[in-house]
Amino acid sequence: MPRPKILITKRVFPETIALLEPHAELDYIATDEGLAPEELSARARGKDVILSQITDRLSRDVIARLADVRMIAQIAVGYDNIDVAAASEAGILVSNTPGVLTDTTADLAFALLLAAARRIAEGHDFIHAGKWKRWTIDLMIGRDIHHRTLGILGMGRIGQAVARRGLGFSMRVLYHNRTRLSPELEHELNAEHVSMERLLAESDFISIHAPLSDATRHLIGERELRTMKPEAILVNTARGPIVDEPALARALREKWITAAGLDVFEREPEVHPDLLACENAVLTPHVGSASVATRMKMTVMASENALAALAGQRPPNLINSASWETSPFRRAVAE
Ligand code: DGY
Repeated sequence: MPRPKILITKRVFPETIALLEPHAELDYIATDEGLAPEELSARARGKDVILSQITDRLSRDVIARLADVRMIAQIAVGYDNIDVAAASEAGILVSNTPGVLTDTTADLAFALLLAAARRIAEGHDFIHAGKWKRWTIDLMIGRDIHHRTLGILGMGRIGQAVARRGLGFSMRVLYHNRTRLSPELEHELNAEHVSMERLLAESDFISIHAPLSDATRHLIGERELRTMKPEAILVNTARGPIVDEPALARALREKWITAAGLDVFEREPEVHPDLLACENAVLTPHVGSASVATRMKMTVMASENALAALAGQRPPNLINSASWETSPFRRAVAE
């Protein structure tokens, strides 16, 4: 039997390579640039699995050219870079890495919330610029977090983990989600399910935890920003295109809202110049899951998904589960 072949599109940890190498022939692109769509489909020729990252554009066009690939194992929980419908039609399995990054991402959302409210990045820059000459009564005064209202848009695993952090700060938690949590969970999180309008109008902090889809693209635009309180602080650690960046920059500049903490952007790694000009925006470079332990767990989980398929077992974190029924990985073992 020929050894299965895995394309690893970008640099990963040496431990990831050590985990996969005994089981497959690896085509490892050990750089950080990433492949252009044509390069990606050319390089995927003859490969059984692609170990992908969020920067790989696996659009319908690219997927149509993946003649040999039977699985895309994504090293992330989000997979808006992959056209899953096209992959399913082509009989390609798609897996992701849910759960392992929940708390790490919730930590960063809370860090941004705190930093924006208490002007931590501004204070840091102020000191480094040699501007601190004296203590004054209103130097860098910000907003309280404790006992304020936290609005969570998208109450999946990460949204719930942010709600838990809010409880530690004695916050009132409102949430808006397609499906309502069980009464037990609502009680545990002290969270109230409300309309989007109420969440926008009543929250002091709004933290976004929804996946990017056609339904959530520009979910937060001018109308929504104008509905928020002038004291409101917006945090986005989900996906950049959920927020209309020029509208947000205007809201920050013209003080429709107080501040924002952003880890994700519409055209990463570019950041809209109007946002860069806003002192009341705290910015980080898409590092929600970037702790040593969590990034390691994500690569292990993605690898284990791939290795399960290669061993003829259903990958534990399959997104398009119906595709397993007809997958050649499953058939190869059955035959
Ligand atoms: C994810 O997992 O979707 C993050 O955005 C990248 O770690």
